[in-house]
Order: sequence, then structure tokens, then C-alpha cells
Amino acid sequence: MTSHLALKPFSAGKLSLTNRSVVAPMSRVSTLGDGIPTKAMADYYARFAKGGFGMIITEGTYTDRHFSQAYPNQPGITDGRQLEGWKHVIEKVKMKETPVILQLMHAGALSQHLTDTRAPSAIEPLRTMLAGYSMKQGRFPRPQSMNLAEIDQVIEGFVLSAQRAQEAGFDGIEIHSANGYLLDQFITDYTNMREDQYGGPLENRLRLTCQIIKKIRQYTQGDFVVGVRLSQGKVNDFDYLWANGLEDGKIIFQSIADAGADYIHFASEGKGFDHGCLTREGKSLPKLAKDLTGLPVIANGGLHIPEEAQRILQDEHADLIALGTGALSNPDWPLKLEKQQEVLDFDPAYFADGVAI
Ligand SMILES: Cc1cc2nc3c(=O)[nH]c(=O)nc-3n(C[C@H](O)[C@H](O)[C@H](O)COP(=O)(O)O)c2cc1C
Repeated sequence: MTSHLALKPFSAGKLSLTNRSVVAPMSRVSTLGDGIPTKAMADYYARFAKGGFGMIITEGTYTDRHFSQAYPNQPGITDGRQLEGWKHVIEKVKMKETPVILQLMHAGALSQHLTDTRAPSAIEPLRTMLAGYSMKQGRFPRPQSMNLAEIDQVIEGFVLSAQRAQEAGFDGIEIHSANGYLLDQFITDYTNMREDQYGGPLENRLRLTCQIIKKIRQYTQGDFVVGVRLSQGKVNDFDYLWANGLEDGKIIFQSIADAGADYIHFASEGKGFDHGCLTREGKSLPKLAKDLTGLPVIANGGLHIPEEAQRILQDEHADLIALGTGALSNPDWPLKLEKQQEVLDFDPAYFADGVAI
């Protein structure tokens, strides 16, 4: 299938990619406990660049030493040593001139590392910790509600981390406002019971994400990309859909565009594009984001299947597609597509010993 749309170049705004396939962010908890990216991680990321991907988004990286860390052995970007570690990753990926974006992540109530956690409200998260990411398993602790000083600390952590990312040589950052982590906890009605300017109507619940976008814009320079990842589902609530479907989508996408985001990345974890990217009525949220904002939009969810990727691009649900597990089983997915080679399904046994590389 040499005419596959995923192989076409893409250029819009600050993004200029040789093709439309992107590696989705995937936590691999592979540092030695100090949050410093290792040489093995550099080799891991380089495989995707060699395999022809148009852009790589790194795993979620913690942003401060207060309450942001999600997993033991997760990488961070909170100091000079962690920054230096990321330089090795960038160097290896840049041998192929592939753009690389650092995903910035605050765990909030879903930390599998901390015992004392912070969240918008003191509500115990649904379900249990993810297997394979930590020795610690079972229920999440009940978090404390963040006070305003702690919210300011979150913003500061994201901004300083983005500045370090720019200094390290990343092409941009992606703000993780998806999958049930801190920023999504603010956006989601059932995890945010606040009565201040960060709670109540959706516009208020979006305030923290928007403040972070604006501040990062203000404190980074030039062509530095500021992307935002959103989702309906959560790692601890897979089937959750936005209560007001397209109406919520309009408010969320417009607010994020107005705050100054350079792209919107819509995630669908685990059960494919249709499961996580459509509203209850079957309407496409990535397509709405694209039509409403004119920003580049990345879609995700089972898109390593060539026909499915072609459908999403052909029907203009999104400009780019991000592969998670499909990139693990096919680190050379774009080259395979070009050469018309067989694409392998993801085998869950890949994580039999945990998610570390
Ligand atoms: C091991 C693993 C780790 C993940 N870590 C992250 C992460 O750090 N940040 C994030 O936004 N999504 C994360 N995800 C979700 C993926 O980016 C993606 O949305 C999901 O795998 C669905 O895409 P797929 O069907 O192509 O696999 C992770 C997924 C996996 C399998």
C-alpha cells in the first residue's frame, strides 16, 4: 500500500514532518530510580526514528519533586542531571532528524509511587493500580485536595520543565491532560468537586490546563511546540465518555486553542479509535477539534492496522496518527508500510515481566 496516507509528508503551523505517523507516549519506567534517562532508553527511542516514524512523543515525564511522580523509575525533568540524560535520547533520535516531543505529566491522585498524594478534591480514585508499573498494587490512596499554593507549584513545575526541555533540545512538549492523571482530574466532573475558580463549570475545570499552556508559551521561545493530549477514557475508567459529547468538545478544544496550543492529540487507550474518540452518539471528537480549531490533530487507538489508519486519515478525522502498542510490535511500522510488509499485532506477553524496556 505505497499510497498510504500515513506516508505523506505533513506541514502546518510549527510541525513539519516527513510522514504522518507518530509514536504515542508510553511510560516504560526504565530509569535506575533517579529519574535520569539511560542509554538503553536512548537506544529504545532511536529504533522508532530508524524505523521511519515522522515524530516521536516520549513517555510521560514528571515535572516536579512535590507530588507529580506517577511511578518508581519514571523519568523526570526536574533538574540538570535529568536534563543531561534526555540529551542522549535527543542526540540518538536526531541522527535521523526526527522531531521529538517530551510529554510532561503530573500523576495527581493516580500516583503508584507516592503515598501522600494531591488532587483537585479528596476523592479516592476508582479501581486499582496498573500492573507492571510498580511493586505497589491495590487501591490508590485517598488524595488531599490541592490548595492554591500547591496549584501554583504544579504550574511552576510544568513551566520550568518545558524550559529545561527546550534547553535539552526537544522540539516541543506535550501537556498530558488525558487518561485520568492530574490535569484530567481537574477537567472531569466526578473527580473535581472544587468550589473555587478551578471547579464548577467546564470552563473553570479547564483553567489549570489553559494556564499551563499560556505560561509555557510565554516562557519558551521560537518554534518550540506546545501540544496537548486529551481523552475521554481514563486508565482507571476505560469506558468514560464526556457527559455532553460534542458540546463539551467545543468548549474544551476552543479553550485549548485560545490558550495557544500548537496541536491537539486525542487518545483512545486500549480498545481502538471508535471506542475512545467518538461521543455516545458516534460523533468524532478529533474531527470536531480539527474543524473547530484548524490546529493539527493527532488521533490514536489501534491505528497500526493499515486499513484503519487509512480510514482515519482519508475521512479527515485527524492529520496525524499516533501508534502505541502497534509501534512496540512494529518499531519500523512506516518502513513496513512502504515496503508492503506484514504488520504484526501486539502480543500482551510483551509485558509479561512488567512494562520496563
Ligand atoms: C506501556 C504503556 C504506557 C503508556 N504510557 C503512556 C504515557 O506515559 N502517556 C500517555 O499519554 N499515554 C500512555 N499510554 C497510552 C498510549 O499512548 C496509547 O494511547 C494507547 O496505547 C492506545 O494506543 P494503541 O492502540 O496504538 O496502543 C501508554 C500505553 C502503554 C501500552
